[in-house]
Amino acid sequence: MAEAEAHRYKNQVVVITGGASGIGYGILKTFVEHGAKVVFCDIKEKDGLSAEASLNEMGPGQCKYIFCDVSNENQIKFVIDTAVETYGQLDCLINNAGTHPPHLPIDRFSAADFHQIMDINVFSFFSACKFALPHLRKTQGNIINNCSLVADIGQHHAVTYVSSKGAILSMTKALAIDEACHNVRVNSFSPSNIFTPMWEKAALASPDYDAAIKTGRDSQVLGRFGTLEEVGLVCLFLAADATFCTGININVSGGAELDYGKKSRLDSE
Ligand SMILES: NC(=O)c1ccc[n+]([C@@H]2O[C@H](COP(=O)([O-])OP(=O)(O)OC[C@H]3O[C@@H](n4cnc5c(N)ncnc54)[C@H](O)[C@@H]3O)[C@@H](O)[C@H]2O)c1
Repeated sequence: MAEAEAHRYKNQVVVITGGASGIGYGILKTFVEHGAKVVFCDIKEKDGLSAEASLNEMGPGQCKYIFCDVSNENQIKFVIDTAVETYGQLDCLINNAGTHPPHLPIDRFSAADFHQIMDINVFSFFSACKFALPHLRKTQGNIINNCSLVADIGQHHAVTYVSSKGAILSMTKALAIDEACHNVRVNSFSPSNIFTPMWEKAALASPDYDAAIKTGRDSQVLGRFGTLEEVGLVCLFLAADATFCTGININVSGGAELDYGKKSRLDSE
């Protein structure tokens, strides 16, 4: 990699939620590879500390792990404050942490289930944006929200998760309007199937693991899962290059939203 190409986000300060594994880890690695100073948080302490050690060894950027449950607004505030105290500024917030409950019809979700998903997947994004924005306005920075293709196309037996992702898509547009006067950009991206621990857990919970993997792979017209690196590079593009983009959502989906397919649900509940 040429030097300039390797340093596309050199010395820019980034906060990433849920960076210890999966897509968040892929984004973290991409930004460290491109010279950023990243503070990332997660509830998985062992994975977080291990990612911190290996990525600091790799460079050329650097990172710092903080334990944080993103549904707790005091803990989110601590993460943002620590980034600014440690590195002196904040240029980019990437809201990524999220969870997907087992697939069930609405009758089997309780009120508590609904509120819990909203706390982890939506309230956390709201809190992080709120605490980060006073700093992002100073640097004319940007926010990137990890949404999901299902915000647009829905998903079978996932009413709570899909509702949470729809909220993120709309929150992105609302904030893009409000923050334009500060030249702060707010965008989102929507993965389809990226093979991560979350995806693997869902496949293991299904009756046939191999069939679930095949369905996941075949859902994209490109005929494969997306990689962590591919998602990281979309985030880097939004942060470093997409200076005339705000309020947009980029599908990182291998064309999963295209064409007709077997969509009838008449034979399933
Ligand atoms: N994998 C996919 O195919 C896919 C598709 C569309 C959207 N997404 C979205 O991508 C994001 C990351 O998903 P993933 O597949 O990498 O999942 P993952 O489970 O592999 O990783 C999520 C990370 O977030 C962390 N996390 C979860 N709850 C947290 C909390 N309360 N506080 C702090 N950290 C928490 C986890 O510990 C984990 O490290 C989620 O928002 C998910 O909805 C994933």
